[in-house]
Amino acid sequence: MLRQHNYSLKNNNTFGIDCRAAEFIEYDSVEDLQRVIPELKGRRVLHIGGGSNLLFTGDFPGVVLHSRIKGIDILDETDETVVIRVGAAEVWDDLVAYAVKNGWNGIENLSLIPGETGAAAVQNIGAYGTEVKDVILSVETLSLENGKMRTFSNAECGYAYRQSVFKKSLKGQYAVISVTMRLSKQFSPNVGYGNIRQALEGRELTASNVRQAIIDIRNQKLPDPKVTGNAGSFFVNPVVDADKFNDLRQQYPDMPYYEVEGGFKIPAGWLIEQAGWKGRALGRAAVHDRQALVIVNLGGASAAEIVRLSERVRKDVFSKFGVSISPEVNFV
Ligand code: EPU
Repeated sequence: MLRQHNYSLKNNNTFGIDCRAAEFIEYDSVEDLQRVIPELKGRRVLHIGGGSNLLFTGDFPGVVLHSRIKGIDILDETDETVVIRVGAAEVWDDLVAYAVKNGWNGIENLSLIPGETGAAAVQNIGAYGTEVKDVILSVETLSLENGKMRTFSNAECGYAYRQSVFKKSLKGQYAVISVTMRLSKQFSPNVGYGNIRQALEGRELTASNVRQAIIDIRNQKLPDPKVTGNAGSFFVNPVVDADKFNDLRQQYPDMPYYEVEGGFKIPAGWLIEQAGWKGRALGRAAVHDRQALVIVNLGGASAAEIVRLSERVRKDVFSKFGVSISPEVNFV
C-alpha cells in the first residue's frame, strides 16, 4: 500500500492539471482498503481510476483513493461464452486487447478508451454503438462506510447513457473492486455506427480488424492524453424532445442525430462546431480541432482556464440553438 501526504496529482489526471491531494492512498487488496476505512470518517474522499474523466479545479483537501487490484480471472467458460472477473485497476484497453486476442467478443468497439476497468463500470463507457453495460453481469464493491463487500447486479447498477447509481444516488459510497463480464466466443460485429464500416473496407470482418479500425478512427479524431492533456468528450450529447428537434431540423436540415428513448440525441460536437468554436483557444485551453467535443490543455492551462472556455462554449451553443449542453467530465 502506498500512502503519501501532500501528493501531486499531475500524473493522475489526463488533463495534466498540477494540483495536490492532502493524502493519497493506493491499496493493493480489499484488506488494505478495509484497514484504512476507519480513518476516512469525516474527511472528504475521492476514489479515482485512470483520471481520464476528471477536472481538478483546485487542491483536494481530503483523501484520494486509488486501487491497484488487477487480474483477469475466468469464472466460467462454455463453448459459447466466457465469464471473467476483472480487477478494477486493470487498464481498460489492455483488457480489450487481451479479450480480442483470446477470441472473446463484445468489447472490441470500446478499444482505446482511456482509463481503468472499475471506472469504466462506474461511467458506463460507450463508443461506436456499444456500452460496457451490455457485457457487465455484476460489479463487486466495498462500502467506504462500513467496509463490507456488496455485489451489484447489472440491474442494480441503474445503467443509462454515461450513467450509473455509482455516479448518482450512491456517489462516493462504494469502491469498485472488480467487474464481472460475460463475453462471447461468437463474433457478432456491431459496425452500424458512423464510419466504421467504411474504415473496415478491404479488411476481413473480424474482431481484431474492428478493433484496429476503431483505434485508427480514434487516433485520427481524439488527442492522445500523453501528448496533449484532455479528458475525451468534455460534454455529453444532449437529448431534445420532438418539438425542439423538429424546429432544429427545419433550420438545420443537415444536423446529425440519433433517435433515443425520450427524444433525439444531437451530437454536442456538431453544435459546438456550428457555434464556431472548433479549433478555437481561450488562453491555454482550446476546443480540439478534429473533434469539437473535446477540450484540450495546450500546455500549462489552469483548471480555471478550462472551465472558462467550457462555459463560453456552453453559452454560445445555448444562444445559437437554445440547447443546453452539460459536462461529462467530473469537476472536483
Ligand atoms: N461532429 C461534428 N463536429 C465535430 C464532432 C462531431 O460535426 O467536431 C458530428 C460528426 O460528424 C458526426 C456526429 O457529430 O455526425 C457524431 O460524432 P462522433 O462519431 O465523433 O461521436 P460523438 O457523438 O461526438 C460520442 C462519444 C465518444 C465516442 C463517440 C463514438 C459522447 C459524449 N461521446 O461522440 O466518447 O467515442 O461517440 O461512439 O457520447 C468520450 O466519452 O470521451 C468519447 C470520446
